[in-house]
Amino acid sequence: MNTPVSLAITGRIALVTGAARGIGFAIAQALGQCGARVVVADLDLTAAQRAAAQLGGQGIEALGLAVDVSDEQQVLAMVAAVRMQWGDVDILVNNAGIVSTGPLLEVSAAEWNRVMAIDLTSVFYCAKAVLPAMMDRRAGRIINIASVAGKRGGGLLGNSCYAAAKGGVIALTKGLAREGGPFNITANAVAPALTDTEMTSVLAPDARARVLADMPLGRAGTPRDIAAAVCFLASDAAAFVTGEIMDVDGGYMRD
Ligand SMILES: NC(=O)c1ccc[n+]([C@@H]2O[C@H](COP(=O)([O-])OP(=O)(O)OC[C@H]3O[C@@H](n4cnc5c(N)ncnc54)[C@H](O)[C@@H]3O)[C@@H](O)[C@H]2O)c1
Repeated sequence: MNTPVSLAITGRIALVTGAARGIGFAIAQALGQCGARVVVADLDLTAAQRAAAQLGGQGIEALGLAVDVSDEQQVLAMVAAVRMQWGDVDILVNNAGIVSTGPLLEVSAAEWNRVMAIDLTSVFYCAKAVLPAMMDRRAGRIINIASVAGKRGGGLLGNSCYAAAKGGVIALTKGLAREGGPFNITANAVAPALTDTEMTSVLAPDARARVLADMPLGRAGTPRDIAAAVCFLASDAAAFVTGEIMDVDGGYMRD
């Protein structure tokens, strides 16, 4: 008899960066609801522990850790701490990110480098830190949170600099899929459009209305919408999906 399709990831260790709030928190919560043990990693230890405690109150096994994902030593220390506490990471979700706005001519080299470090280089650091153990076990899932900005060159809130970083995340995802495939490691990305979080709360009402007018589903995404796609990609149901950039965008990228 065929095994029923299931989104269960019972007992697997999921590491979600930038998970103290917003999309990252929703991803940690949803993966936990699918049975994973979740590491809530974020810049501020207190915020990460508070989020982990909130998940703990919902019956999810969660661990709050501090990390600046743009610092390779901190990333290595985080992965070592997870290994000490629970074991090797099965599912890595690279979600931490910042947005950069405004015209390119007003972006300083320092701002450019900061956005690249947090939005793109971090994905390289985190993937590199978990890959050896995944390769040894011939199993692993890497899910990167990109953006429709990485396909369109920005446009909503993010500028060219943000778009370049997210475009890099998309290319890196495809590279990871190529290199990870022979080891049964999948790498995929989710590309949200406008999603309601603190990041997008600064969007002017008229700009928001313009974006929504171009969305077939006529509303902004919720963190939960993005988390649902991540759960699918983390599950056995997506065992044959890799190198995919999944738009979760209310139809925004339909053309
Ligand atoms: N909200 C949207 O409309 C939208 C659209 C497309 C893509 N995204 C992407 O989704 C991801 C999450 O966005 P969000 O809207 O939840 O943002 P958010 O600002 O609400 O949350 C981002 C989280 O990342 C953490 N973070 C930032 N820099 C970090 C660092 N150096 N190290 C560790 N953690 C760090 C923050 O502390 C915060 O908890 C980002 O990668 C963002 O680019 C968001």
